[in-house]
Amino acid sequence: MAYETIKVSTEEHVATITLNRPDALNALNQKLLRELCQALEEADTSEKVRCIVLTGSEKSFAAGADVTEMADKSFVDMYLKAFFQTEHDRFLAIRKPIIAAVSGYALGGGCELAMMCDFIIASDTAKFGQPEINLGIIAGLGGTQRLSRFVGKSKSMDMHLTGRFMDADEALSSGLVSRVVPAKKLMEEARSAAHKISEKSLLASFAAKDAVNRAFETTLAEGILYERRAFYGLFNTEDQKEGMAAFAEKREAQFRDR
Ligand code: COA
Repeated sequence: MAYETIKVSTEEHVATITLNRPDALNALNQKLLRELCQALEEADTSEKVRCIVLTGSEKSFAAGADVTEMADKSFVDMYLKAFFQTEHDRFLAIRKPIIAAVSGYALGGGCELAMMCDFIIASDTAKFGQPEINLGIIAGLGGTQRLSRFVGKSKSMDMHLTGRFMDADEALSSGLVSRVVPAKKLMEEARSAAHKISEKSLLASFAAKDAVNRAFETTLAEGILYERRAFYGLFNTEDQKEGMAAFAEKREAQFRDR
């Protein structure tokens, strides 16, 4: 599939999707979001792909929603078109793990897109922010909700109300990202994590992703019940038998997603 605003490559079992609107620092316009959803859905249904890496350029993961595209819109335009809603929901429906590899700016919709991934690996040049307040609006792709869950109320309020940027060290110490690496090592680190994930049983990956995501949707008791059901269910798979046999035999497990 030929895309205009993204690039897609697959190496072994890892699909890498690269946002590619360099003239606009990868600002998220409608075309990019639609192409991104399509590429994610193709990766999700591909028998080859087992993990996805989403990245941008060294200067910018994505500098937000495309301001030029939104500038003239009215409430009625946004509401009737359900702006962002379809793409948000399509993104969240992806079952395979998605790692965000963030270098440079991850602002507004860019920060929100990174947070919609399963975890974020950042380069030491990364800058996160929700600067929509400077444009007279607020976040609209989940930022007020997700950033608050990542970093807590005080820092989230600070980011949304002042529009300031957070550097990679602050993002790491406040739990927004899982790892920070030198910019030159970012893709190597993200792909290495993705290759590691690809070696696991896809059934267990799906279950882990679902169960962790559940933690943000429900009470602790319900979440634990959900986890326990998923945990028991995996004992009905060949991969559980293989994983435990391989452990006992001191060899690498060969998972078959069965
Ligand atoms: N939407 C549309 N275009 C954008 C954009 C966005 N969110 N962010 C950057 N661009 C464009 C700029 O308009 C500029 O285009 P031009 O060369 O045609 O003038 C180009 O990308 C380069 O950006 P520029 O501002 O010149 O780069 P910079 O290095 O001086 O500053 C930023 C980088 C990220 C600090 C600055 O571009 C910025 O503040 N962007 C908007 C961030 C934002 O508010 N995001 C939330 C949107 S809801």
